[in-house]
Amino acid sequence: MKHLISIEDLSKIEILRILDKAEEFEPVALGKKSLDVLRGKILANLFFEPSTRTRISFECAMKRLGGDVINVSTQEASSMAKGETLADTIKVISNYCDAIVIRHPLEGAARFAAENATVPVINAGDGAGQHPTQTLLDLYTIRKELGRIDGTKIALVGDLKYSRTIHSLIKALTLFKTKIYLVSPEALELPREFLEELSGEIEKAKLEEIVTDLDVVYVTRIQKERFLDEEEYRKVAKSYRVTLDIVNRMKDEAIILHPLPRVDEIAVEVDTTKQARYFKQAFYGVPVRMAILTEVML
Ligand code: NCD
Repeated sequence: MKHLISIEDLSKIEILRILDKAEEFEPVALGKKSLDVLRGKILANLFFEPSTRTRISFECAMKRLGGDVINVSTQEASSMAKGETLADTIKVISNYCDAIVIRHPLEGAARFAAENATVPVINAGDGAGQHPTQTLLDLYTIRKELGRIDGTKIALVGDLKYSRTIHSLIKALTLFKTKIYLVSPEALELPREFLEELSGEIEKAKLEEIVTDLDVVYVTRIQKERFLDEEEYRKVAKSYRVTLDIVNRMKDEAIILHPLPRVDEIAVEVDTTKQARYFKQAFYGVPVRMAILTEVML
């Protein structure tokens, strides 16, 4: 049984195979071609934290491939509100479906779910842990929009401490020949233990000093919900913002990505620049999740 809990569950070859497969699914994701390879299959979408893109793009991917979806969106709406454990919930839901997608506020919850499941489990975000399907769509976007991943210079901007999208993406990027710049306020730096585990070309930088040289500016939202203390959040709120001034200094062919939702870290005026690709990136979630679903279910 193939689970996808951490991006490290995949080798570089497996990652590239998923990206190639996603490419083939793009016409289906756009509704230009129909395919029903997942007919008769049911996906359980368990989202115990808010989600727009991840949940809906999984649902859309499943339905466009002829499959069906059951959604559980809050713990209050399931028997967990009556005191049922996550382990029991997963054991039961395993018998109703062919795969489970889970988002949960606790780091490690997806791994725990996988240990209790009898069908494949896909991690759609576990606290500040990992978000491997987002990483696959981020890599897909970079390859698609720039034509390559190797040889690129990428700035990871914002909340590097709590962003699970960063924690997965940075590990995947070190499998490629990329130069990674870490750009964040001191209080939101990538945890030191995390950095020590990484190999490759990684350095801290200030965006203004490197912006003209970058291929990718990957921006993240401050993960307000992970702060234990509201005052700590207030100290860093609004501490960085990508504006037209910054974009005007970027290379013409460089791109700006963001997993979304955006709060105020990218000015709305940036949306119409040719470098802004975050809405396209959100669309790519559909073909990439089609590739992931077929990989684990067929
Ligand atoms: C991200 C997440 O949930 O980690 N959103 C997403 O899945 N596109 C990023 C975020 O919430 O900031």
